[in-house]
Amino acid sequence: MPKISREGREEFLPGLNGKVALVTGAGGMRGVGRATVMKLADQGADIALTDVHREIPDLPPAEVRTEWGGIDTVSTEVEALGRRSLPIYCDLSDPPQIERMVDQVMDEFGRIDVLVNNARAIIGKDKVPVTDLEKEVWDHFFSINTTAVFLCTKYVAKHMIQAGNGGRIINIASNASKQASANGAAYSASKFAVLGLTQASAMDLAPYNINVNAVCPGPINTDRMSYWERDQAEQRGITQEEFRGQIVESSAQNTPLGRIAESEDVANMVSFLAGEDASFITGQAYNVNGGQLFH
Ligand SMILES: NC(=O)c1ccc[n+]([C@@H]2O[C@H](COP(=O)([O-])OP(=O)(O)OC[C@H]3O[C@@H](n4cnc5c(N)ncnc54)[C@H](O)[C@@H]3O)[C@@H](O)[C@H]2O)c1
Repeated sequence: MPKISREGREEFLPGLNGKVALVTGAGGMRGVGRATVMKLADQGADIALTDVHREIPDLPPAEVRTEWGGIDTVSTEVEALGRRSLPIYCDLSDPPQIERMVDQVMDEFGRIDVLVNNARAIIGKDKVPVTDLEKEVWDHFFSINTTAVFLCTKYVAKHMIQAGNGGRIINIASNASKQASANGAAYSASKFAVLGLTQASAMDLAPYNINVNAVCPGPINTDRMSYWERDQAEQRGITQEEFRGQIVESSAQNTPLGRIAESEDVANMVSFLAGEDASFITGQAYNVNGGQLFH
């Protein structure tokens, strides 16, 4: 727990000691969520971590093969670092579940200092020309990539304001928040919206010392599930992982720094934005893309 001064204010503790971070989409074996959880826990934070239950056809092959335990396993890793941890299953496309999830975190920890909106809709079904894009797919992408970010911000920021200790909200956006590509209408539009939400909520929450920023990664070596990649691999007669390997290689060739991002590259930026050194930064959208995009 943080130390309280005689004036009733929290005394500064090094790193994130005494803080509580809530990270969405944290169950992937190689995802940004897990890397972020481990980085923030390593800095001293106790962690609430959440993800949706996924069926086998919705999981990357390596997670099926290794019988990966999702947020339960990541939670055990957090506890091994000596931090408290609370895994919560929550489908972010269902707003009442979001409100309940935030209440559960408050019941367990009594505070939330850092919110990382990292989850996103499973990609692939969106990867079609706009004329072929199903409205259900568009709605699903917006519900998780945008509306859930808004609702987590709304519910968590209310608690942050009430506690009066300030806070940090970090939204994981994308290169696609700044530069769209063909067959990317739903993903890109939902991620562009996150930057608008980041800026507006940064201004609304600045009076309470709650800083809101976005991180915009380029391609990351996360082994995420993509229905499109699975179909492409099948058509080529190779495994999904072989096809993924080709994407990783071509990403490296298209990146000035000569490699694809690792999840830890993104987690490092999140950790900076969550920490004391970023106290005068709000409403920004930082690229973590090896030099692929400059604005
Ligand atoms: N992987 C990349 O190449 C890349 C590139 C740019 C930006 N990003 C962004 O980085 C973040 C993390 O990327 P990643 O590849 O680790 O993510 P990912 O595709 O593995 O998905 C993140 C998590 O979201 C969860 N999720 C999916 N549907 C959900 C639902 N209905 N409710 C709750 N959770 C749900 C998944 O289970 C998963 O654990 C995302 O916001 C993504 O848009 C990723």
